[in-house]
Amino acid sequence: MSKSVEVIRARAGDAPVRLGLILGSGLGHLAGAVQGVSIPYADLPGFPHVAVSGHNPNLVVGDLEGVRVAVFGAREHYYENGNPAAMRVALECLKALGAEALIATNAAGSMRPDIRPGDLMLLNDHINFSGLNPLIGEKTDARFVPMTTAHDAGLRAALRASAEAVGVALPEGVYAWYSGPSFETPAEIRAIKILGGDAVGMSTVPEVILARFLGLRVAAISSITNMAAGMSDEQISHEHTKAMAPFGAVKLEKVLRHFLRGF
Ligand code: HPA
Repeated sequence: MSKSVEVIRARAGDAPVRLGLILGSGLGHLAGAVQGVSIPYADLPGFPHVAVSGHNPNLVVGDLEGVRVAVFGAREHYYENGNPAAMRVALECLKALGAEALIATNAAGSMRPDIRPGDLMLLNDHINFSGLNPLIGEKTDARFVPMTTAHDAGLRAALRASAEAVGVALPEGVYAWYSGPSFETPAEIRAIKILGGDAVGMSTVPEVILARFLGLRVAAISSITNMAAGMSDEQISHEHTKAMAPFGAVKLEKVLRHFLRGF
């Protein structure tokens, strides 16, 4: 981790980073809006080797709306190599660079008829439907991370206020993490719905757990790309996810820019 922090400081400067942003499938555009330095993950020891199309494996450190941010253009998902802690070093670096908060974004399927493809959903909680945990094997007592307030009320209130200010609907809901990479069956979606899920996706929960472990405040936003399996006649595919993500990305950028101006 410290080697990567050295590389980042050498290339992007010593000024502390205030906020981290993880960009989900098809949401990478925002990295280009940051005025700063782009560093390939390949130059950062311990960072993931991401090989999912629609993701851009660069860390961009610089200024967005007057806030010094670190934007992770890609994440390693559990389904890539079976490692739920794949983002640990990256998030440790974020913490070491001085960040106080993380905003994670993802593409997700909706189980709520009132939350449609192209909409955003702010996570007010999550269900770890996979049963996996990035802290398995951690030896210190810090592994017993309370998750009662994992999705930070203050950050959520600020994000909701920003969404309202820029005229973007930002309903809140519960995100269920499904391991992937296959999509869910309709029966699994019915089960997750009964369990209290509003949206389903293959990421984010490990990062929320890791970020809380590291003492970062966290909020997460889903860009809804499809109705979940069995809820509509449309085909569910990664191509469709990538094609739909830009609709949410436009809204996300508006909300995040406004949010950053008040951060
Ligand atoms: N399920 C899981 N992950 C997803 C989906 C989905 O329906 N849509 C986008 N990512």
